[in-house]
Amino acid sequence: MPFPEIRLRRLRRTESLRALVRETTLNPGDLIYPLFICPGEGVRNAVSSMPGVFNLSVDEAVRDAEEAASLGIGGLLLFGLPDSKDEQATGAWDDNGIVQRALRALKQSAAARKLVLMADVCLCEYTSHGHCGVVEQSGDTYEIDNDPSLELLAKTAVSLARAGADIVAPSDMMDGRVAAIRRALDVDGNSNTPILSYASKFASAFYGPFREAADSAPQFGDRRSYQMDGANLREALREIELDLAEGADMILMKPAMPYLDVVHAARERFGVPMGAYQVSGEYSMLQAAFEKGWLERDRAMLESLLGIRRAGADFIVTYFAKAAARLL
Ligand code: PBG
Repeated sequence: MPFPEIRLRRLRRTESLRALVRETTLNPGDLIYPLFICPGEGVRNAVSSMPGVFNLSVDEAVRDAEEAASLGIGGLLLFGLPDSKDEQATGAWDDNGIVQRALRALKQSAAARKLVLMADVCLCEYTSHGHCGVVEQSGDTYEIDNDPSLELLAKTAVSLARAGADIVAPSDMMDGRVAAIRRALDVDGNSNTPILSYASKFASAFYGPFREAADSAPQFGDRRSYQMDGANLREALREIELDLAEGADMILMKPAMPYLDVVHAARERFGVPMGAYQVSGEYSMLQAAFEKGWLERDRAMLESLLGIRRAGADFIVTYFAKAAARLL
């Protein structure tokens, strides 16, 4: 006979009571802020499909990083727009590549150095064809060739670690890349560099705006032969299991909001640090609704992040990091 003795509304009456019984927290330190680094100086180019997101030259990126650090944000995730692209993704593993230069500059700043600097490891921003691995073309068919891609990804991770990345984060979805990267890092004397593997990454329409921001859209075909089918939860858990067996220190789940069940299932099953990536399309659709006045900006933003934490993510990669940190 629960009612009228039991009344759950008793603990919802005041903000202090609600705070006392709140189950999930959201702190600036849980948020990771993605940055897109481009060549030049004093460059701050707006990404049209992502209001509030910019392509930043290294000097401007350092300024943004310092601001992020002053807001208590946990870290940065760096992406690069190289001067030029080729079949071998030279810009990804070049010691003088755009992200490598940004890492060195960030490490020179006492404020920025306090952030955990994560570097995305992938080839798509650096290949002329925009795929995440090496393309093997024969006539009018093509394959993304797994094993030759591993060597380039491993070289990229080593180069980023040398330049100062605190964590390397492979997002390519080739089989065996975590093991290849771990081996290469260890041989190079970077056995202390952790790997955050995008273990569960789905072939998603929600990456659309990112491909404008990072200029990384595939020039032909799509990513469905390497990124996962959105229908598959069991396969996602298998991907995670394999990445952990290969030596991943932490896992990243992506996208976040349309895949919260996957985040939750991974949390139940694996005791490792886990992040979720609220990707570009999730950001852009909310921004569009804010611009139209259809959603209340601050509340909807924080609610979207809280939901991701509640599903089980320890940290969240989000383009809202700065805006959310200001509110928290
Ligand atoms: C690179 C990469 C992508 C994203 C993160 N790393 C794009 C893709 O796989 O096409 C997407 C992030 C976002 O949409 O915010 N492979």
